[in-house]
Amino acid sequence: MLSESGQLISLSSLPQPINPPQRLLMGPGPINADPRVLRAMSAQLVGQYDPAMTAYMSETMELYRGVFKTSNEQTLLVDGTSRAGIEAALVSLIAPGDRVLVPIFGRFGHLLREIAERCGAEVHVIEVPWGQVFEPEEIEAAIIEVQPALLAVVHGDTSTTVAQPLDELGAICAQHGVLFYTDVTASLAGNTIETDAWGIDVVTAGLQKCLAGPSGSAPSTFSPAAVERITARKSIEAGIREAGDAVTAHPIRSNYFDLAMIFDYWGPKRLNHHTEATTMLYGARECARLLIDEGIENAVERHRLHGSAMLAGVQGLGLAVFGDLAHKMNNVVAVMIPEGVNGDAVRGELLNDFGIEIGTSFGPLHGKVWRIGTMGYNARRDTVLTTLAALEAVLRRAGASVTPGGGVGAAYEIYADADRAIRAPSGVGA
Ligand SMILES: Cc1ncc(COP(=O)(O)O)c(C=O)c1O
Repeated sequence: MLSESGQLISLSSLPQPINPPQRLLMGPGPINADPRVLRAMSAQLVGQYDPAMTAYMSETMELYRGVFKTSNEQTLLVDGTSRAGIEAALVSLIAPGDRVLVPIFGRFGHLLREIAERCGAEVHVIEVPWGQVFEPEEIEAAIIEVQPALLAVVHGDTSTTVAQPLDELGAICAQHGVLFYTDVTASLAGNTIETDAWGIDVVTAGLQKCLAGPSGSAPSTFSPAAVERITARKSIEAGIREAGDAVTAHPIRSNYFDLAMIFDYWGPKRLNHHTEATTMLYGARECARLLIDEGIENAVERHRLHGSAMLAGVQGLGLAVFGDLAHKMNNVVAVMIPEGVNGDAVRGELLNDFGIEIGTSFGPLHGKVWRIGTMGYNARRDTVLTTLAALEAVLRRAGASVTPGGGVGAAYEIYADADRAIRAPSGVGA
């Protein structure tokens, strides 16, 4: 209720300051942000065209060229969560009526199809059951049949925990004159991704998984061929258009996600498009800076190690895992909920008694698996061992038959092997 002077007089209704409970986020993302990223995000704002800000933007572009392993000039942040990156890429690449091929192997393949359809594409899909991936030959056969303008495929799909191998698809797309887009939101920095070496035209991501940041920014990169396709529909909006600026009869169907304008916004023209989400840029820049400082190969290896320890740990408890393990992402595992155990109740006890969050699941896997992540700031030995110990305790209380000490014990064995390998690198006598 407001007083006559407009002041809030019922103080009891004023919410408390934000003070979230301590949580260890071991689900499929988001995860706890690296404190260094949060510190970068608490820095004061500067003006949009302050030289400090434009320098941060240019540095961010260069850092993400390193992260994506590309020399693409157009490597930038789309403001919004990972889905914003996907929408920007697809709405800018697809002209209504374009044929698009989407291989679907989980929830996020369905999302690509949905967004492509909303962009007015003629969408063709191929599908495999959740937990499996496609052979490159299957995708090539579909390309030959459909003759799409664009192949849009997810790399790591957290809904199923498997990653589609991409290394052969770029050459196939190039051979058939198809642009190649991939969503690496869940896999970037925890699994190998080679944008240029694999011939990928467009890659979009997010911060909240292996990059150890909060969601809200979508690092993305665009090859010269993709840029050519996008800028062919360039149309500068009326209020900022100058003599000689491009206008077309069929512009990109979103203003906010119009990459042709966004390229000019990040480039030397500094076109006045949106107001950059400065705080998110600080965070995204710090995520990339930390990753480059660690070394991308080292970060991938860290995710492989802790992901292997978590996998060995849940198996050591006697639990079964879901999906094709030969294609499992390093950073997440799907654990079958044992017969007779209430999956939501177990997740609830982990959260309430231990402050640990693990993930539920969607679609055909709903109620059948938990998803446990080891990613970004939480890809660490202490988080893996704590989660396994807590999971064992909660499962035993739920009456499940688990191997006592089997989870932590199996993970410790993985770590012991890794420690031995560090002490005695190959070629050095032990
Ligand atoms: C592979 C993949 N794509 C897209 C998304 C959507 O991301 P966001 O929720 O940040 O928009 C997710 C989120 O988990 C994801 O795992």
